[in-house]
Amino acid sequence: MSVIEKTETVPFTLDGYEVEAQPGETIWQVAKRSGWEIPHLCYAPEPGYRADGNCRACMVEIDGERTLAASCIRTPKPGMSVITNSHRAESARRMVFELLVADQPARETSHDPESSFWTWAGKVGVTDSRFPRRGAPAMDVSHPAIAVNLDACIHCNLCVRACREVQVNDVIGMAYRGNGAKIVFDFDTPMGDSTCVACGECVQACPTGALMEATLLDSAGQRSVYADKVVDSLCPYCGVGCQTKVHVKDDRIVQVDGRSGPANENRLCVKGRFGFDYVRHPQRLTVPMIRREDVPKVWDDEVDPANPWTHFREATWEEALEVAAGGLAAIRDRDGGSALAGFGSAKGSNEEAYLFQKLIRTGFGTNNVDHCTRLCHASSVAALIEGIGSGGVTAPFTAANESDCIVVIGAKPEQNHPVAATYLKQAAKRGAKLVIMDPRRHDTLARYAAHNLQFKPGSDVALLNALLNVIVSEGLTDRQYVQAHTEGYEELVQRVASFTPEKMAEVCGIDAETIREVARLYATSQRSIIFWGMGISQHVHGTDNTRCLIALALTTGQIGRPGTGLHPLRGQNNVQGASDAGLIPMVYPDYQSVEDPEVQAKYRAFWGQELDPKAGLTVVEIMQEIEAGKITGMYILGENPAMSDPDQIHARKALAKLKHLVVQDLFLTETAYQADVVLPASAHAEKLGSYTNTNRQVQIGRPALDLPGQARQDWWIVQEIARRVGLDWDYEGPAEVFDEMAAVMPSLANITWERLQREDSVTYPCEAPEAPGTEILFAEGFPTADGRGRIVPVDLVPPDELPDADFPMVLTTGRMLEHWHTGAMTRRASVLDDLEPAPVVSLHPLEIRRLTLEAGRAVRVTTRRGTIELTVRADAGVPPGMVFIPFAFNEAAANVLTNPQLDPYGKIPEFKFCAARVEPVEGQAAAE
Ligand code: SF4
Ligand code: SF4
Ligand code: FES
Repeated sequence: MSVIEKTETVPFTLDGYEVEAQPGETIWQVAKRSGWEIPHLCYAPEPGYRADGNCRACMVEIDGERTLAASCIRTPKPGMSVITNSHRAESARRMVFELLVADQPARETSHDPESSFWTWAGKVGVTDSRFPRRGAPAMDVSHPAIAVNLDACIHCNLCVRACREVQVNDVIGMAYRGNGAKIVFDFDTPMGDSTCVACGECVQACPTGALMEATLLDSAGQRSVYADKVVDSLCPYCGVGCQTKVHVKDDRIVQVDGRSGPANENRLCVKGRFGFDYVRHPQRLTVPMIRREDVPKVWDDEVDPANPWTHFREATWEEALEVAAGGLAAIRDRDGGSALAGFGSAKGSNEEAYLFQKLIRTGFGTNNVDHCTRLCHASSVAALIEGIGSGGVTAPFTAANESDCIVVIGAKPEQNHPVAATYLKQAAKRGAKLVIMDPRRHDTLARYAAHNLQFKPGSDVALLNALLNVIVSEGLTDRQYVQAHTEGYEELVQRVASFTPEKMAEVCGIDAETIREVARLYATSQRSIIFWGMGISQHVHGTDNTRCLIALALTTGQIGRPGTGLHPLRGQNNVQGASDAGLIPMVYPDYQSVEDPEVQAKYRAFWGQELDPKAGLTVVEIMQEIEAGKITGMYILGENPAMSDPDQIHARKALAKLKHLVVQDLFLTETAYQADVVLPASAHAEKLGSYTNTNRQVQIGRPALDLPGQARQDWWIVQEIARRVGLDWDYEGPAEVFDEMAAVMPSLANITWERLQREDSVTYPCEAPEAPGTEILFAEGFPTADGRGRIVPVDLVPPDELPDADFPMVLTTGRMLEHWHTGAMTRRASVLDDLEPAPVVSLHPLEIRRLTLEAGRAVRVTTRRGTIELTVRADAGVPPGMVFIPFAFNEAAANVLTNPQLDPYGKIPEFKFCAARVEPVEGQAAAE
C-alpha cells in the first residue's frame, strides 16, 4: 500500500479502543473488521450492495452528537469517539426490533425462524412486541420457485437494490404510501406473472424470509427444510462459472446460493439457483446397460428414458466395461484407429476432458476426438489463433467495469450468460456506451443501450466492414498501435475501401449515419471492448465475422489495456477448459498442432505411446464418415449429437449405423437410444474437478452428493475403458490427473491442485505461484511468430441457403434463459421446466398476422431437411421475416431443420441461418 493511502486512514475510537478506518469505510465495517457485532437489517455487507440506512437497526452513539447515527452508512472522522454499547444505543436498537416484530408472524410460526431478522432479534433480546399489528398482505404463491410472504416484510429495501442495482432487472419496487406501502413486482403484478427472471437475488438478500425459496417451505408457508451440510462448488451450466454454495439435506440438493467468486460476486441466474433437482430425477441412469440382442437399431426409434428395458438389459460393471471396451478395441484392431471416434464433453471437468482425449489418441490411435466447441465457438477460436495467436478471451467480462464503450454482437447474454449481463448493465448505468448489434432485439440489455443495431440476418460482414471503412477513411485508427503491433493493415485498407456505409446500409439494413456514429464511438472511446456469441460464430462466414472483430480491435488499439479487448462469451461451463485440455481433433493440450513433428515427438515421449500423425475429424465430419461407412465405432461421453448436431435426421441415421456405440451419460439421451452400451455417469454435483470459465479462471467444483445406485465417477469409467483397450493407467483421482496436465500444459504454470483447493479460482496465465493470474492479455504484443497481431481482411460470403419462394423465411436457433442446450438437464429440473414447459417458435406479431397465425396455436415449421410442430409465441424482438426456435426441446427438435453446411475454417455449422416455411396446423387450440 502506498504512503499516501496510508495517511488517508482515519483514526477514531470504538467503545474506547483505538481503531483505524480505511478510506470510505463505514463505522459498521470497521466494527465488523475489528470483531464487534452491530445488528444490521437493511445493510448487506456483500459486493454490490449500497448501504441505504433505512432500518436503523445499527444505531450507535457518537460522542458530542445529539442524535444516534446509523453505523452502516456513517463514515468516521479523525478523533471521533463512537459508542456501540451505551444504554441509549442498545435500547434504541431494541426499540427498532420491537417495532418490526409487531408486524411479523411469531418466530415459531414465522416463514424462517433462522432468518437474519430473527437471529438478530434474538441477539438483542426481542421476542415479542407491545405495539399493535397492522394488516398483512396476502401470500403470493404464483411463482414456482419463489414464495412471497410480505407479512414478514420489514421494508428494508434490500430486494429492491438486489433487483435494480445488483442484477439490474428492475422488476421489484416499493409502491403505495403509509400503511399500504409494500413491495411490488412490476405494477403490483403477482410475481409469477411479472417480468421477473427468477435470478433469486432478492431471495438471497431478504433478511426476513418474506421472499424465500418455495421448496424450503411447507404448505402453511413455514420453513420445513434445513440443510445438513453446505458445500462450496460451481454452477454446472454456462461459461460464466458462478461459484455456488450448495445446501444438501438427506443427499438431495435443497437450495443453492451464490458465492463470492471473481465471476459472480454472489450472483446467480435462474438456472444456477433453481435448476438443481435434475441430479435426482427418477430417470437418472443408475446401472450399466447393454442393448438387447432382439432390438435392432432403427434411426427414428424412441426409447422412454423412464423405461429403458424395452431396448436394454441391466449389466454388471465388469460385463458392461468388457463389452464397451472390447467392441472398440476390436474395431481398432481390425480397421485401424481411423474407424473410431470420440466425443468428450464441455460439461465435464478439465481432468475428464484431458483423460478422454488421451484415451482416444493413445488407446484408439486416432485424433478423431471433438466436443461441442465445434458447434459453438470453433470459428471464433480459428480466427483468434490466426489473428492474435491465442483462442482465449483477452479480458474477462468484468473488464466492462472499466470500459467506455461496450459492443455486444451476436450474443444475448441476458439469456445465455445472465450474470455476465449484470456487469454489462451496471457498466452502462455507470455511463459506458453500450452498442448492441443483433438481428433479434434484446430484452433488458436493450434498455441500457446507446445504439441497438438490428441488422439483417447474415449481413454481419457487411456491417463490420462498413465500420472498418469508416475507421480507416476518417483516420480513426491508432496509427502508432497499428505500426508497432500489427500486420495486414494495408490490405485491410484496400479491401474495405468499397464497403462504404452508404453501400452497406442496403445490405445490412442499418443506415449509414448510424454506422458512422458507432464506428466513431468504438474507435475514439478511450477503452472499448467487444463481446460476441454464437450469432457471430455459427455461420458459414463465422471465422470471417470474428476476423472483422479482431480487425476492429487491432486497427484502433482497443486491446491489451484495462477496459478493452475481445471476449467470445463461451457457452458451456467448461468449454474453455475442455478445449485447453485438447478435446479438439487438430491439437493436443494447449493448442499444440498434432501435425507438427516436434510437438508429436514431445507428446509421444510424454504419453509413451505412438500417435496418429494426422489431424482428426470434427463433429460434423465424423457424422459424415459414419454415413460413408468409414467410422464404425464411437465412445460418446456427456454429449448428445442426436439433439445438438445440425440436420438431425441425418445425424440420427448416422448414429444408428454405428456398429458399436458406447454412451456415458446421466440420462438416456436421444443419442443413447442408439447405444450398444450405456454407462451411468456422475453429475457435476457428485464430483471433484477443475473447470475453466469464459474468463480463463480455473475453478474447483466439489462433490455435494453421493453417486446414486451404481453410477461411477467419469474419470474412473474412462480409466477402466483405457485399461481394457490396453493402456496401463493407474490414476488415483483428479488431483493426479491435474498434476499431469500441469506438467505438459504451459498455460497451467504456477497453478497447482493444492492452490486451487486453497484459493478456489486462479486465472491463467499466471506468472508466479502467489500471483493472482493475468486478466488482461497482450499489452506488449501477441503470442504469434513475430509478436504482431494479424489483420485479415474479408469479403462478403452470403449464407449458404437463402430464402426463396418455397422457404421464404429465415430460421435461426439458440437457447433460452431457462433451458440449457439440448435440455437433458434443465428439462429435468422442475422449476425450469415449470417456467418453460413446451417448445415454442417466436415470430414478430406482424408476421403472425401476415401469416394468419395466432399466438398460442400450433404451427408447422419446415426446411429442406425436415418439419417440426410447435406453438407460436409473439416476440416483437424477432424481426419480421425471421423465425426463432430454441433447440432444447426433443419433442420439436430445432436441429431437424438446421443446415449442416460448414464454415470452411472453424468447421462450424450454419445454425443461425437457413430458409424456412411456417404454416398453421389445422384444428389446434390455442395453448399459450
Ligand atoms: S421483501 Fe425482504 S428484502 Fe424486500 S423489503 Fe421486504 S424484508 Fe426487505
Ligand atoms: S450465469 Fe451461468 S454460471 Fe452463473 S448461475 Fe447462470 S447459468 Fe450458472
Ligand atoms: S442496517 Fe444500518 S440502517 Fe439498516
